[in-house]
Amino acid sequence: MMTQRRLKIAPSILAADFSCLGDQVIQAQAAGAELIHIDVMDGRFVPNITMGPLVVQAVARVARIPLDVHLMIVEPERTIGQFADSGASAITVHVEACPHLHRTLAQIKEAGCRAGVALNPHTPAESIREVLDMISQINVMTVNPGFGGQQFINAATSKISRLRHMVLDGGHDIDIEVDGGINSQTIATAQACGANIMIAGSCIFGHADGIAAGISALRRAAAST
Ligand code: DX5
Ligand code: ZN
Repeated sequence: MMTQRRLKIAPSILAADFSCLGDQVIQAQAAGAELIHIDVMDGRFVPNITMGPLVVQAVARVARIPLDVHLMIVEPERTIGQFADSGASAITVHVEACPHLHRTLAQIKEAGCRAGVALNPHTPAESIREVLDMISQINVMTVNPGFGGQQFINAATSKISRLRHMVLDGGHDIDIEVDGGINSQTIATAQACGANIMIAGSCIFGHADGIAAGISALRRAAAST
């Protein structure tokens, strides 16, 4: 198997019940989630509007695991400081939203956070080659960003493999996240291609038997490969 890095499950609270968000985060954490993934959308980079620094602060009050903040927003450089101050452990920006990506990543690191870059399904792996020495994680979008509950785009899997090879060949210490449409059917493919952080919303928070069952179903499906 290509991945030697530890598998981590990152529940995306986009699919959580916001009327009891703190409780949902505590349940995910108690069930062994390694990270909490927070999807920030601005209605401009993506059509949807979701949450901002206030929600990150609220989650930080109950979470004992790192907060993985995914910025699907234009001009992320304007708000990186606010998200860092709110308790983000990692901040991921979209390569498509950053004309000065190198500077934006430096800003994230100066704010004390792990820097990440996300790639839309159409964006080539090559687009981030020159910043690999600046980042701690890559988010490979396996849906078009903006909404939860979409279907995994299979064509993105070859990009995961290419990125894993680029990372290994360059000797970089980088996690590869996969985001969108992850469930018990798709997780093994993503893992086999070299992703090690599995972001999942609807199959965890929407699981018929509850959040813990959703997380263990994913872990079982990944382990059985
Ligand atoms: C999509 C978000 C994802 C989303 C995944 O734009 O970045 O993190 O929450 O949701 P599911 O797992 O339902 O596809
Ligand atoms: Zn996300």
